[in-house]
Amino acid sequence: MSVLVTGGCGYLGSHTCLALLEAGYEVVAVDNLCNSSRESLKRVSELTGQPFKLYECDVRNGMQLMQVVEQNNVEAVIHFAALKSVSESFEKPLEYYENNVGGTLTLLRVMALQKVPYLVFSSSATVYGEQEVQPVHESAALRPCSPYGRTKVTCEEMIEAAARANPDFSAVILRYFNPVGAHESGRIGEAPQGEPSNLLPRLTRAAAGSLPPLVIAGDDFPTPDGTGLRDYVHVCDIAQGHVAALEALERRPSGVLTCNLGAGRPVSVRELIDTFERATGVSVPCRVGPRREGDLAACWADITRARQELGWSPLRTMEEACRDAWNWQSQNPFGYDGPVL
Ligand code: NAD
Ligand code: WQD
Repeated sequence: MSVLVTGGCGYLGSHTCLALLEAGYEVVAVDNLCNSSRESLKRVSELTGQPFKLYECDVRNGMQLMQVVEQNNVEAVIHFAALKSVSESFEKPLEYYENNVGGTLTLLRVMALQKVPYLVFSSSATVYGEQEVQPVHESAALRPCSPYGRTKVTCEEMIEAAARANPDFSAVILRYFNPVGAHESGRIGEAPQGEPSNLLPRLTRAAAGSLPPLVIAGDDFPTPDGTGLRDYVHVCDIAQGHVAALEALERRPSGVLTCNLGAGRPVSVRELIDTFERATGVSVPCRVGPRREGDLAACWADITRARQELGWSPLRTMEEACRDAWNWQSQNPFGYDGPVL
């Protein structure tokens, strides 16, 4: 099967391209490189020994996307391409709607015109917002609290409407919790443009000395050790979830299946720091600071549905995620653009 991966050069896209190639899929990637580098997929080709096509293309460019789909006989799409910073989305809400909602709309229209039957969509735990009941089930009422989160809810709605209108089109919506880590080779990993805002890349850079000491964003949450609880899941498990989603699409009749992808257990900021230090033997300079505005005390996933419907389970431990993140950081202190150590 020929699979189009949008945003293929990014963090989750590159790891998923690798998993797809290893599972025997043909891969075609598109990316406008606004938050990534071509080098990630060059390394995926090296790791798998399989060359594949990357088009420098914006998903909002319907004409170019049509050509890519047509020329490559695309049968399924995995749609990662989006802007993903919660804080930036408050500053540039229209850019987020244009890119995330506009890009998904164009893609859905191209898929309809070209009769591409299967879509896997990157959604996020951020669609849930604050929830009293933890772990969070897919049936929870959606309460996104940022423009970014609202773009994801809007995209989910568009996909559901498209599937209701067309029985030959079906989709799996994956709501990722907190993807972390890197491929075990240390050749691909998380390399955002500019300063990262997520915990693990900030932690590894603080440990390497390329960022100031890590600030624990609040230790007065109503949690066992006072720091925030999240659901960190290895990026290679997330990548494998996409292979499982494609397999499910081929098995299922029509409609939309929405699944959480997480490890299914809560880990606090302090626990993550301890695990990292134990797994790598490297100490993390850190201090406690104020809470980040709008931060949740706790959010973790009920992954029963992904287990049952996709036959997927997270296989990698938090120790492995920390070791792999550190391996990536140590070998590539400047991401993809600098020298490899
Ligand atoms: P990323 O920024 O590393 O990857 C996104 C890729 O899409 C980048 O390569 C970027 O250049 C590309 N892109 C953005 N807009 C584009 C456009 N209009 N046309 C073509 N390419 C475009 O981010 P990621 O962490 O790999 O996230 C992938 C997806 O997963 C996103 O949709 C994100 O919202 C979602 N997600 C990520 C996380 C996370 O913590 N990483 C959590 C939940 C959901
Ligand atoms: C994790 C924990 C912080 C940085 C975000 C998005 C969400 C999804 C995943 C895309 C929290 C604490 C963090 C730091 C800290 N992405 N922290 N010091 O907030 O769960 O979710 O990324 O869809 O949409 O909102 O992830 O990695 O930013 O924070 O103490 O320097 O680490 O308070 O408890 P979060 P995160």
